[in-house]
Amino acid sequence: MAKRIKVFDTTLRDGEQSPGCSMNLNEKLEVAKQLEKLGVDVIEAGYAFSSPEDFESVTAIAKLVKNAGVASLSRALNKDIDAAYDAVRHSAAPRVHIFLATSPIHMQYKLKMTEDEVVARAAAAVAHAKKYCSDIEFSAEDASRSDKAFLARVFSEVIKAGATVLNVPDTVGYSTPDEMAALVTYLLENVQDIDKADISVHCHNDLGLAVANTLACVKAGATQVECTINGIGERAGNASLEELVMNLHTRADVYGGAQTGVKTDQIYRASRLVQKITGVKVAPTKAIVGKNAFAHESGIHQHGVLAHRETYEIMTPQSIGIPQNKMVLGKHSGRHGFKDRLTELGYYLNQQEIDEAFVRFKALADKKKVIFDEDLEILVKNATSDYSQQRFTLVNFKIDSYKASAQAHICLDVRDSGEESAICLSNSGPLEAAFSAINEIIKRHGCKFEKDALKHYDVHAASGGEDAVAAAVVKLACGDKKVTGRGESTNTIMASIEAYLNGVNKLWA
Ligand code: KIV
Ligand code: ZN
Repeated sequence: MAKRIKVFDTTLRDGEQSPGCSMNLNEKLEVAKQLEKLGVDVIEAGYAFSSPEDFESVTAIAKLVKNAGVASLSRALNKDIDAAYDAVRHSAAPRVHIFLATSPIHMQYKLKMTEDEVVARAAAAVAHAKKYCSDIEFSAEDASRSDKAFLARVFSEVIKAGATVLNVPDTVGYSTPDEMAALVTYLLENVQDIDKADISVHCHNDLGLAVANTLACVKAGATQVECTINGIGERAGNASLEELVMNLHTRADVYGGAQTGVKTDQIYRASRLVQKITGVKVAPTKAIVGKNAFAHESGIHQHGVLAHRETYEIMTPQSIGIPQNKMVLGKHSGRHGFKDRLTELGYYLNQQEIDEAFVRFKALADKKKVIFDEDLEILVKNATSDYSQQRFTLVNFKIDSYKASAQAHICLDVRDSGEESAICLSNSGPLEAAFSAINEIIKRHGCKFEKDALKHYDVHAASGGEDAVAAAVVKLACGDKKVTGRGESTNTIMASIEAYLNGVNKLWA
């Protein structure tokens, strides 16, 4: 019988902890809902002990998700494990995920523990978690640089203590496919009672091999893969879910028919959602979900595909859920066509959300000849945003600029205080002037930024055409809180101001 590979998605933990990818509670819930639709087996929702916010989001995801397991990361410490279980216990399939490093370099310099101490700590931690929860994953951090015999010893002990999944991370993305496959083979032969647990792999992409390493492990006998949407994650990221799943799907002949439970037609939607929420765009050439992944540019290729699709196409765009309906939406489109296209894009809105989005659609269609799918995604996001939480709302702005110097006049509506204005000058340009004016108003309400609070700013055309909607993304940091703000408008400056305000509102929600 074809082997079933479990998919453990860590977009909300390893992905979220990578620079620039932080998400707030509502955003995490939106991603979790889509991961559930996608059909992943386990959602790693966060690291509950790390902060009250993480505890809250792991708890909320455990309560929300019905059709996937929910895991929380935990160090091999009782206080971490207690918090992890306390957050995931609401799930129908809770999992506590304990990690402890096993490589000589980590044990000597980071943990300052001997091998015996590591074995004892790992087994004790798993035994402690097992008192609460039947499903326990143990990760041997930096497994790929660990001594194989020692690793087998640690794994044998944690199985005895009750671990159900043994994870083999290539934490620093150092390994090669041959090495990873050999490690899995060795563990299958040398860990006692290995048939009582799944072997999982968790590969990082520092040398661009995360997906290749993971697939090599599947061939060698691993039964769980750890991955993230779009491959986001620490440093160069994790193995990307879409690449792993579509490799198994497309090359079942190579992987002995091994299959996942992922509904591949939800992949595109998941990828777009994570790009939209994190503001981290995938490269156009990114396999599976990049803008060019199914675009045949050269005449020879186009001719071949038209004559017989398989001449140049190994997968169909439909198989990952790229909408095929090319009916143009515009000013004269009705509510029905609008709603149908949203459903096709994977958005299932309630009546009130549809009504709100439709009003925005009509307003945009007055400004733009053709409404693209990317425009619709923006409208939906706006319709589902919770504006009642917003403390500062843009009323108006005026910018005068001459070459690099600019003056911005910003007027905001401040909740419970009414309208307030500020005027600022800048020698760098209109956005610096506008952001400074916003800072001045929010400062009056006790919200203070450091000078370098703006960590990242990006603006790009969200869709095609001369009248494209500009999508702006800002990343702001205040103390240890980091947020992503987004704004969209056919006016680039307005999109940028809205993005900045969106970030400010998230910081002071
Ligand atoms: O990369 C890693 O080693 C991890 C573990 C915590 C699983 O993310
Ligand atoms: Zn990792």
